Amino acid sequence: MIDFHCHVLMGIDDGSRNLETSASMLEASKTQGVQQIVCTPHFDAAKDRMEEFLINRDHAFQVLQKWIDASDAVDIRLYPAAEVFFFRHMSEVKDLKKLTIRGTNVLLLEMPFDVWEDSYISEIEDLCREYRVVLVHLERYMNFKNRKYIRKVIEMTHRLPLYVQINCRSVAEGSMRKKLIKMFRNGEAHFLGSDSHNMTRRPPNMDSGMKALEDSLGTAFVKQLKAQNRKFLQDARDEGHDK
Ligand SMILES: [Fe+2]
Repeated sequence: MIDFHCHVLMGIDDGSRNLETSASMLEASKTQGVQQIVCTPHFDAAKDRMEEFLINRDHAFQVLQKWIDASDAVDIRLYPAAEVFFFRHMSEVKDLKKLTIRGTNVLLLEMPFDVWEDSYISEIEDLCREYRVVLVHLERYMNFKNRKYIRKVIEMTHRLPLYVQINCRSVAEGSMRKKLIKMFRNGEAHFLGSDSHNMTRRPPNMDSGMKALEDSLGTAFVKQLKAQNRKFLQDARDEGHDK
């Protein structure tokens, strides 16, 4: 099982504060059956400087990787990446590729929380020329005012390298549960992520998300989804950055 969205790298954003918390998050993830984690600290071009962000992220990554290497119990594979906050003309920024899942062209994109505009959609289309774009926790934007845009991006997933990630908590509980599970069934949602930040308020919960899908869509469906997720990441790594 792959956790596609996780703030396990310590000391970068509002996620894990220290190695102890990160280690506990990894242990909990391991117990839940997670084998790979895409590490997605927040990157906001309005606040963060790219070089500084990358230095801090890579340092945290190395420290945590060293902890895994020394651990007998946790053998999770980590991938450095970022949860990149949308900004205008971002598709024209060459350095953006430094924020993809390392060794791939997969960009995890966090959209604005205001009402969307037509220009947001064209920016996503432009990004899809160069990247496999994963819209993180799309359910957070699925309100009445964005309805036509959500419909549009879901349509775009059928013809562009555009993918949808949903948070585990949203498929396990809450009012959107049924709708989101249906999206997975229809192939309109592709990945689950814990979006975990710590061990208290937002802990690792990939097990509850997968269980919710399994309860509604069956074991065979979940098995296939996990295999598709592994293949997605493997294919992206095989193709590398520049294709
Ligand atoms: Fe996040």
